[in-house]
Amino acid sequence: MNEPRPGVRKKLFIKTYGCQMNVYDSDRMASMLARHGYDRVEDPAAADLVLLNTCHIREKAAEKVYSELGRLRRLREQRRREGGDMLLAVAGCVAQAEGEAVTERAPFVDIVVGPQAYHRLPELLARRARSRGGVIDTSFPRESKFDELPREDGESPVTAFLTVQEGCDKFCTFCVVPYTRGAETSRPVAEVLAEARDLVRRGAREITLLGQNVNAYHGEGPGGREWGLGRLIRELAGIPGLLRIRYTTSHPRDMDAELIAAHREVPQLMPFLHLPVQSGSDRVLRAMNRRHTVADYRRTVAALREARPDIALSSDFIVGFPGEEERDFAATLALVEEVGFAQAYSFKFSPRPGTPGAAMPGQVRETVKAERLARLQALLEEQTRRFNAAQRGRELPVLLERPGRHPGQLLGRTPYMQSVHLEAPEQRIGDLVSVRITEAHTHSLAGRLQTRSM
Ligand code: SAH
Ligand code: SF4
Ligand code: F3S
Repeated sequence: MNEPRPGVRKKLFIKTYGCQMNVYDSDRMASMLARHGYDRVEDPAAADLVLLNTCHIREKAAEKVYSELGRLRRLREQRRREGGDMLLAVAGCVAQAEGEAVTERAPFVDIVVGPQAYHRLPELLARRARSRGGVIDTSFPRESKFDELPREDGESPVTAFLTVQEGCDKFCTFCVVPYTRGAETSRPVAEVLAEARDLVRRGAREITLLGQNVNAYHGEGPGGREWGLGRLIRELAGIPGLLRIRYTTSHPRDMDAELIAAHREVPQLMPFLHLPVQSGSDRVLRAMNRRHTVADYRRTVAALREARPDIALSSDFIVGFPGEEERDFAATLALVEEVGFAQAYSFKFSPRPGTPGAAMPGQVRETVKAERLARLQALLEEQTRRFNAAQRGRELPVLLERPGRHPGQLLGRTPYMQSVHLEAPEQRIGDLVSVRITEAHTHSLAGRLQTRSM
């Protein structure tokens, strides 16, 4: 029914939720489906296939998917009245975590596909065309999706993502990722290098290495030896034309000496690190099964700052984890004060079905969580504001990424991940330029292009 006949192009709309790894996966699925007759479009109303690449991390994220499915169902009914049709597919972490429950709750869904089975999408589409009911694939196949999913031809964005590691073996007691993405695996060094070279050849100037636990990377290197992330970054830095390297998300326990040394020695490695700590209380960290103490985190931060004094830090926090008392929360605020973050994300604990945290005694009341979150966010926001304000008057290297909101304006980023708006001609996209920062806001900067180029 929906497998396009040769020569007939169909339209694909993808909506991506959750982390950057989903963004990467969506692009790879789009390039694979392009070879099966689908062109990606920006408007679901015209699409023959709508794919929701979903996130299961917090309840709100998962629930959004079902309300979107309700809207799409109505859109499809309208299409059918007009003589057309639309396939609805659910991919990503909700698909993996809920599997058949997705089609029980939303029986009109055609395809449910987990994050390890994306390369089988063409086959699932063909199966759907032959059957009446929905088809589900949430297996963890032996073959790797990375070997099967083609990369897009054509131009790369200036700043590209590259997944080097997937899954997680840490089992923090609040988190669904070990269940939705499975065991931790790393892609071989040669494969990562080939993909990185290809991205640079197609125009990428910055690569962000991705993994749910990216600094646990231990890919197979030449001669069968294992390489850590620090080693991989050094090798990537040798690619001509690759100006900037970043990586995310890291676990404090996996910040090893080699990776910290890379921050000292590799100029392409940007001085910005997202290093989630979740809580400033040892008692809570233990209950979360984070497997490090507050003192360990402090030591890691000190070592990073010793290696790269200007490194800017970002973090994730959870408030209201079961058993968290006011004094634990006060310890989190104290750690934030002490470390000083350039940027951070913070969340109310969301009990996720099947995780140990959901069943723990001492669940914290919603009103208490909301009140703690507001206090923490006020402090974090003040730190971001101060960090941005400190850049005013400085001259910073900025990588020009894309057009800005207004004509004649471009958007770029500082080494510390801040967005900068400036006037510059469009043909300078992809250039690393020197910018004098003239204005600082809470979430972005404005600047003036300096004539001296970098
Ligand atoms: N691998 C990363 C985090 C991945 S999830 C790490 O180890 O830090 C991204 C963030 O979502 C987490 O850092 C955490 O702060 C938040 N998060 C995960 N599960 C959550 C839950 N059940 N409730 C609230 N926030 C959660
Ligand atoms: Fe989730 Fe913890 Fe793994 Fe991060 S380290 S993905 S928070 S289980
Ligand atoms: Fe969400 Fe899955 Fe990423 S749960 S945060 S999309 S790994």
